[in-house]
Amino acid sequence: MARKFFVGGNWKCNGTTEEVKKIVGTLNEAEIPSEDVVEVVVSPPFVFLSLVKNLLRSEIQVAAQNCWVRKGGAFTGEVSAEMLVNLAIPWVIIGHSERRLILNESNEFVGDKVAYALSQGIKVIACVGETLEQRESGATLEVVAAQTKAIAEKISNWDNVVLAYEPVWAIGTGKVASPAQAQEVHHELRKWFSDNVSADVAGSIRIIYGGSVNGANCKELAAQPDLDGFLVGGASLKPEFVDIIKSAT
Ligand code: G3P
Repeated sequence: MARKFFVGGNWKCNGTTEEVKKIVGTLNEAEIPSEDVVEVVVSPPFVFLSLVKNLLRSEIQVAAQNCWVRKGGAFTGEVSAEMLVNLAIPWVIIGHSERRLILNESNEFVGDKVAYALSQGIKVIACVGETLEQRESGATLEVVAAQTKAIAEKISNWDNVVLAYEPVWAIGTGKVASPAQAQEVHHELRKWFSDNVSADVAGSIRIIYGGSVNGANCKELAAQPDLDGFLVGGASLKPEFVDIIKSAT
């Protein structure tokens, strides 16, 4: 089954109303490949979700950057999956390394969050990736396999999941993984799915890359056979995000 190219823009904790309107304006005016060729999703901070959803062209979807692990209630400061459903937000990013490392989200907690969001009908961009220390000690594949396994233990249907491989050492550093480094991990993750989930899921799941992707390096990365798109941070706030979307063709 052909895997449709996927480009996500993770705006992280950035933006003012005016800046958000400017980015949306750029995206609305851009010539981008059709929805049959590339699925584009942008992920603004919670406070701008409705604004972006209302202003953005309908071919580009919207994602939250997180959601609470269970049904909402007395959890001060959290945003529930039910609220995202209420706002008709179709996607959520879960398990980003900034949350794993800074907010101590464990593999198990991330697995629970993925399962709960899916149970509410929200599609998930689930992030995995190793730190520099883990890479240098040769533990990359073990780390991403353990992160993926913790999700696999909580879900049985991967249809609505995109897996984002984001090596921590490449995030926001300008130090992008080489196409060969990215391909190696994507290939091994696909093999992990084949060995541990099913050949069908291994063939159909989209594994996207994140970490210092920009307009200049995206084409070569996009050409790797097991790389099905990108999760872009810094460059998704700039007009070059359009060039990254175009790397699908
Ligand atoms: O989720 C995207 C991300 O962490 C990569 O960020 O700024 O290196 O593209 P950046």
